[in-house]
Amino acid sequence: MCSMMLWVLFLYVCVPPVQNANVLFLSTIPSFSHQVIFQPVWKELSLRGHKVTAVTPNPLKDETLTNLTEIDLGYLYEIIRKVPKDSWNFMLHKPNFFNVFIKDIVINDMFSKLHEDLLQNPEIQNLIIGHEQFDVVIAEWLFPTLGAFATKFNCPLIGISSLGVPIPALDAVGNPSHPVYTPDHNLPLRRELSFRDRLLSTLFSVYVRFFYHWIVLPREDKTVKKYFGNDMPYIGEIERNVSLLLLNRNPVFHKVMPVVPAVIELGGVRTLKTLQPLSVELKKFLDNSKNGVVYFSLGSNVLSSNLPEDLIEKYIKVFEQIPYNVLWKWETDKLPRQPKNVFIHKWLPQTSVLAHPNVKLFMMQGGLQSMEETINYHVPVIGMPSHSDQTMNVDTAVKYGFGIGIDFDDITVENLKAAIMEIMTNKSYKENVMHIEKLMNDSPVKGIDKAIWWIEYVIRHKGAKHLRSPSMDIPWYQYLLLDVMAVIFSVLALLIFIIYKLAKLSVHLYRMLFCKKSKTKKE
Ligand SMILES: *[C@@H]1O[C@H](CO)[C@@H](O)[C@H](O)[C@H]1NC(C)=O
Ligand SMILES: *[C@@H]1O[C@H](CO)[C@@H](O)[C@H](O)[C@H]1NC(C)=O
Repeated sequence: MCSMMLWVLFLYVCVPPVQNANVLFLSTIPSFSHQVIFQPVWKELSLRGHKVTAVTPNPLKDETLTNLTEIDLGYLYEIIRKVPKDSWNFMLHKPNFFNVFIKDIVINDMFSKLHEDLLQNPEIQNLIIGHEQFDVVIAEWLFPTLGAFATKFNCPLIGISSLGVPIPALDAVGNPSHPVYTPDHNLPLRRELSFRDRLLSTLFSVYVRFFYHWIVLPREDKTVKKYFGNDMPYIGEIERNVSLLLLNRNPVFHKVMPVVPAVIELGGVRTLKTLQPLSVELKKFLDNSKNGVVYFSLGSNVLSSNLPEDLIEKYIKVFEQIPYNVLWKWETDKLPRQPKNVFIHKWLPQTSVLAHPNVKLFMMQGGLQSMEETINYHVPVIGMPSHSDQTMNVDTAVKYGFGIGIDFDDITVENLKAAIMEIMTNKSYKENVMHIEKLMNDSPVKGIDKAIWWIEYVIRHKGAKHLRSPSMDIPWYQYLLLDVMAVIFSVLALLIFIIYKLAKLSVHLYRMLFCKKSKTKKE
C-alpha cells in the first residue's frame, strides 16, 4: 500500500502536470489586427499556470500577469511605415492578372526582411544562444522561418494565424486545396469564381508553389543557417514538422473547406465584451447624432489620409449630401474641406464605437477583425476591399445580406451615396447581421478554450505525429496519380493499337477475299 502511494507520488513528480510548461510564443507581424487575435491566447496560457515568453510587436504590458515575459518588437512597425505611400495605394486597385503575382512577391519580400530584422534583436539572440528550454513553440504561420526555434529547442511546433494561411502552408500539413473551391487566401476573389478567376487561381496555385519552393524557402534557409548555425536542417523539413495549424477561421463566415485533423479552425478567440471607454468629446458627438452615424475606418494598415486626393474628394462630396453624421478615422490633424456633419479622429476605440446604439453603418475595408466586431455589434457594412482576404470577406457580407461591396476603382459619388441610403433605410441589413451573429456564435466550445486545449494536447503528447496526414508521406508523383495514370493510359493505348491493327487486318482480309471472288466471277 505504502509503496503504491510512493509510486503515485513518484509518477507525479516525474511526469510534471501540463500546467507548468514553458511556452515560446512568436507572433511577429506588425499589424494590430493580427496581434489582437494572439494576445488572448498567450494571456490565457499564462493564467493557466504556464510560463510564457511572448515575442510580439504588441505586448500586453500587464503587470498582474506574473507568468508572462514579453519581448517588445514594437519597432517593427517602423519598417511597415517606411513602405512608400504609393505601394499601399497600388494595393487599392482592382486585381488583374499582373498585380496579384507582384503583390505576392512584395508581401513575401516584406516578411523576409522583417524576420531577418527581428533575428538580429539582442533579446532574440539571447533566446537562440541561451540555456532556456521550451516545451512548445507557437509561431505566427504566414512564413516558416521562426519554426527554426522549435528545432533549436527540440520541441514540438504549432503554427497559428489570425486568418487563413496561403496554399504552401496548407501543403506543409497535407491539407488539400483546390484552385476552384478553395483558392489561395491571398487572392482577391469573391466566393463564386468566374472563368477568368478560375484560370487566375489555377495559374496562381502552380506559381505560388514554385515561387515558394525555389525562391522563398532557399532564401529563408540561408537566414536560418546564418542565425541558428549551419547544422540546422533545411527549413522545408522544419516546416513539415509542424504539429498543428490553429487558424482563426469560422466555417459559417469563411468559405467551408475540408480540413485534415492537424488544422484546427478556432472561429474567433476574442471576447469582444471588454470595451475601452469613449472620450467625452466622442461620446457627446455620438449621443447627439439622433439621425444615426456612419462610421468610416479603413483599419490600421491603409490610412485614410494616404488615399488618393480624388477619392478623398468623392467621400467628402458624399458625406456633405447625406442626412447623417459621419465619424471618420482620419490620421492627420486636419481634413481639407471638412463638412459640418463629419467628426474626425486619429484613433478610435472601435468596439466601443460599434457598440453605440446610434452607429448604424460601418464603411470599412473588409478586414477579418473588423468584420468580427461589426457582426458582434450588429452593424451592417459597406465594404471597400483592398488586399488579401478582404474581397472574400466583403463578398460574404453581401452573400449574407448585411452589406454592400464597392471596389475602390468603382466608387462614384452617386453609387456610394445610394449604398449608404439603402443600408440606412432598409431594415433587412440589420436583421441579417443579427442572424449571422447567432449562427457564428452557436458552438460547443469557445475559440479560446479550443486553442488552449489543443496547445496543451501537443505539450502532453510531445507533438501530434499521429494526426499527420498520410498524404505527407507519399511522393508527389504518387499523390498526383501520375504512375497510375501512366499505366492506365499505356494499357489503353496498347489496346487501341491492337484493335486498330486487328481492324486493319480484317479489312485487308475481307478485301482480299471479296476482290478475289469478284475477279473470279468476271472471269
Ligand atoms: C502562475 O503560475 C502558477 C503555476 O505555475 C499559478 O499557480 C499562478 O496562479 C500563476 N499566476 C498567474 C497570475 O496567473
Ligand atoms: C520535429 O519535431 C520533434 C518534436 O515533435 C523534434 O524533436 C525534432 O527535432 C523536429 N525536427 C525538425 C527537423 O525540426
